[in-house]
Amino acid sequence: MKKKNIIIDTDPGIDDAIAILFALKLEEIELKAITTVAGNVDVEKCTKNALKILEMVGRTDIPVVEGACKPLVKRLRTAEYVHGIDGLGDTNLADPTYKPLDANVVDFLVETILKNREPITIVPVGPLTNIALSLIKEPKIANKIDEIVFMGGTAGSYGNVTPLAEANVYCDPHAAKIILQSGISTTMVGLNVTQKPLVFRKHLKKIYHKKNPISEFIIKILDHYIAIHKKFFKIDGCAIHDALAVAVAIDRNIVKTKKLYVDVEVNEGLTQGATIVDYYGVLGKESNIEVCVDVDSELFLSMLLSNLQKYQEKY
Ligand code: RIB
Ligand code: CA
Repeated sequence: MKKKNIIIDTDPGIDDAIAILFALKLEEIELKAITTVAGNVDVEKCTKNALKILEMVGRTDIPVVEGACKPLVKRLRTAEYVHGIDGLGDTNLADPTYKPLDANVVDFLVETILKNREPITIVPVGPLTNIALSLIKEPKIANKIDEIVFMGGTAGSYGNVTPLAEANVYCDPHAAKIILQSGISTTMVGLNVTQKPLVFRKHLKKIYHKKNPISEFIIKILDHYIAIHKKFFKIDGCAIHDALAVAVAIDRNIVKTKKLYVDVEVNEGLTQGATIVDYYGVLGKESNIEVCVDVDSELFLSMLLSNLQKYQEKY
């Protein structure tokens, strides 16, 4: 089977960690690199977390490049209250011995995208700062990126950091606007779909294996994430937002999409970071991106859990 070349741009982050572990078990994916961006926690912690995860599963063949330490314009506001002080549910894994590539993230992304003979799909699951900076530095990459499938925004449902705004877009709305206006084939995987398939504690039994440190790690961070969802959203399960973006990147059957005109509010105030989805085309503007409007929750959960279960095999 022909694998899809993917770069995950991420701010690990509990659901980011699950998305990376999920992607590593998907046969359809060739994970070319992980780039990190400040979001859930500061970028140093995001980078350390990406390194810890790859080292834990023996995948130090995959380069990690540290990215932007703050949004393009706004002040960085991190989310330790959700993801823990360390960004991984306060599991406090040992520092990794694996080191990041000594490279500037923009130079790395531009060079990798331009020189790669095969098409590359970018899967941003944090604020879009790195992708925006790369497009500013070298607009030509827009013609070489096969697709951007990003977790962010929301289409017709509530926000999770303000009543209207989703965390990744709220963190860096100016970067999101650059991607929305880039003309690159882009799919938005918003809260309206990522919050539908929930992982409950009953699902954790399928993944857990007592002698397996990786499955123990997965259980610990999901247990933390479920507790946080209970506290803030009054639900007994958790939404693995970022993993759905990874799944959509390789299997469009998981979601229903519509090509729509989408913009983002960048100005300060109550609506900053809101993704404005013109569902009925009332603005008369040309549709610019594919928007996920529904999801096959059963199919996604089955795909996610069956691939996370594979981490039991080695032990
Ligand atoms: O709103 C959910 C998104 O914000 C996810 O990517 C999560 O990791 C946080 O970054
Ligand atoms: Ca994320």
